[in-house]
Amino acid sequence: MQPSSHPGDPGPLARPTTVDLLVRVYCWLSDQVYRHFAGVFDLLTRLLTAGRFPRWRRIARDYLPTDQVLDLACGTGQLLREWPADSRRLVGIDLSPGMAAVFRQRARGGRHSAVMVLASAERLPFRDRSFKAAVATFPTRFLSDPIVLREAARVLRTDGERSGRLVVVGLHLVARQALLQKALSALYGAPSADLRARFARQVEAAGLIFQVVEQPGETIQPALYLATLPEADHHDAL
Ligand SMILES: C[S@@+](CC[C@H](N)C(=O)[O-])C[C@H]1O[C@@H](n2cnc3c(N)ncnc32)[C@H](O)[C@@H]1O
Repeated sequence: MQPSSHPGDPGPLARPTTVDLLVRVYCWLSDQVYRHFAGVFDLLTRLLTAGRFPRWRRIARDYLPTDQVLDLACGTGQLLREWPADSRRLVGIDLSPGMAAVFRQRARGGRHSAVMVLASAERLPFRDRSFKAAVATFPTRFLSDPIVLREAARVLRTDGERSGRLVVVGLHLVARQALLQKALSALYGAPSADLRARFARQVEAAGLIFQVVEQPGETIQPALYLATLPEADHHDAL
């Protein structure tokens, strides 16, 4: 979970502030964990969020179908393992070989059907319209790349009454208390309303419909966004 995981623009060419530098160090450390210490990722995220991380990630489940789901940057595959064992076509992609190794090690011998493909979200190795839904939990900066959102839109299809959708959990955190929210804004370099507006524009530029899902309040919680295929695709698919 990176503080700069917001859909960040390159930002002004000013001298970096202390917060910028701290964020860079944090991002670098996170990358080291994904690459070299993936085995401790789940434990670390639990510790950093006082045990909330699995529950926060699980918020996505209520907005996803029971099969044909693509997890973008699936990490160790914790989310996909929560689907029923007989679910069909649960696929995770991630570009970290370390995360892939942990995913496959945990899947070995298990009865779960989820598979993991080592790939970048910028270039999904799947045909057009091959999934009912996609999900990205605690995505890092890759999700702000317009190519990634276009790729996600490409592989989604509408199935029956339900429009194909990308569910995004934890692009940034939102706090109820003003002081905490201020601290988060400093960390992310922008207030959460700005981060949301920026992401909304990026989603719309990819031809998807942006929607915020408000959640009943904890002191601090991950933002939940839906990016859905428009009606035209819906009718195409019927
Ligand atoms: C904070 S972790 C989140 C993992 C998982 N979604 C979860 O909730 O536990 C971010 C993940 O994004 C992956 N990642 C970063 N850039 C990526 C990209 N361009 N394509 C695919 N995966 C990427 C990293 O390897 C890492 O596993």
